[in-house]
Amino acid sequence: MEIKNVTVIGAGIMGHGIAQVVAASGIPVVLNDISDEILQKGRAKIEASLERGIQKGKMDEAGKQAALERLTLDSSLENAVGQADLVVESASENLEIKKTIFQQLDQFCKPEAILATNTSQFSITEIASAVSTPERVVGMHWFNPPVTMKLIEIARGLATSDEVLETISGFARGLGKEIVVCKDSQGFISTRVLLALRLECYRLLEEGISTKEDIDKTLRLAFGHPMGQFELADFSGLDTELVACRAMADVFGDRFRPPQNLVQTVKAGRMGRKSGQGWFKY
Ligand SMILES: NC(=O)c1ccc[n+]([C@@H]2O[C@H](COP(=O)([O-])OP(=O)(O)OC[C@H]3O[C@@H](n4cnc5c(N)ncnc54)[C@H](O)[C@@H]3O)[C@@H](O)[C@H]2O)c1
Repeated sequence: MEIKNVTVIGAGIMGHGIAQVVAASGIPVVLNDISDEILQKGRAKIEASLERGIQKGKMDEAGKQAALERLTLDSSLENAVGQADLVVESASENLEIKKTIFQQLDQFCKPEAILATNTSQFSITEIASAVSTPERVVGMHWFNPPVTMKLIEIARGLATSDEVLETISGFARGLGKEIVVCKDSQGFISTRVLLALRLECYRLLEEGISTKEDIDKTLRLAFGHPMGQFELADFSGLDTELVACRAMADVFGDRFRPPQNLVQTVKAGRMGRKSGQGWFKY
């Protein structure tokens, strides 16, 4: 199936970037969120990012305008998904929210539309259980920021069909991304590996072994990571990460149990860059 129209649900850290990648690749995209105000903010971020692309010589003004013209904002889910051949759900990392959205997609989407979720760790199979045709549900896990990160992790639910897996893989490659494929397992490849490393960094801090700055510096200078884990976690959002740790701990046990310093930081309202403060202040 050729994907000619895409809808992205959620205009937050990830959703607006995903919509930008799709629009810049020449495909019309509808961006949906719960309010027009959030959608306008998402559009402003896309515009600013396209502008940075011009400054870096990656695109010209005409390319920016064309990408923006391919972008439609719509806070009504029913209207937003009606024409979609592919829906990429990138709403908040909350299983109940995602299942409710997928129940609605089941009603509002064309029967042949592919329904993808950008969840970082929830079970694709469980999300697919909200839909009467689970074979069209697939994990399409992007990385932050979607515009620059090269990889998309494709996770296959228990019922995902070969055809859907093939179409979504081809679509991701067509956007200029590399793909990896894995079975549906909590946290897939990437979140499992990332959280194992990150939680060890938090424990080093909690045990008073070193400072955030020096732990991050170790990752950068000893291992060549572009960012340390404290800095990266602030970039991604600590609230989303805490949800992921708890869900991962439910499946894999104590090794993913969130350390108290993470729990406290989130309780204090410090969600990372998006709230102005996380492990560091912005
Ligand atoms: N932040 C990251 O680094 C990262 C990386 C990969 C994947 N993800 C995944 O992407 C998804 C989104 O994460 P984020 O970091 O962009 O979160 P975010 O908090 O920045 O944005 C979530 C957006 O979803 C919207 N939303 C909530 N309920 C909705 C609904 N019913 N309908 C439409 N929109 C709704 C919110 O208003 C918000 O704008 C999550 O599943 C997360 O696990 C995040």
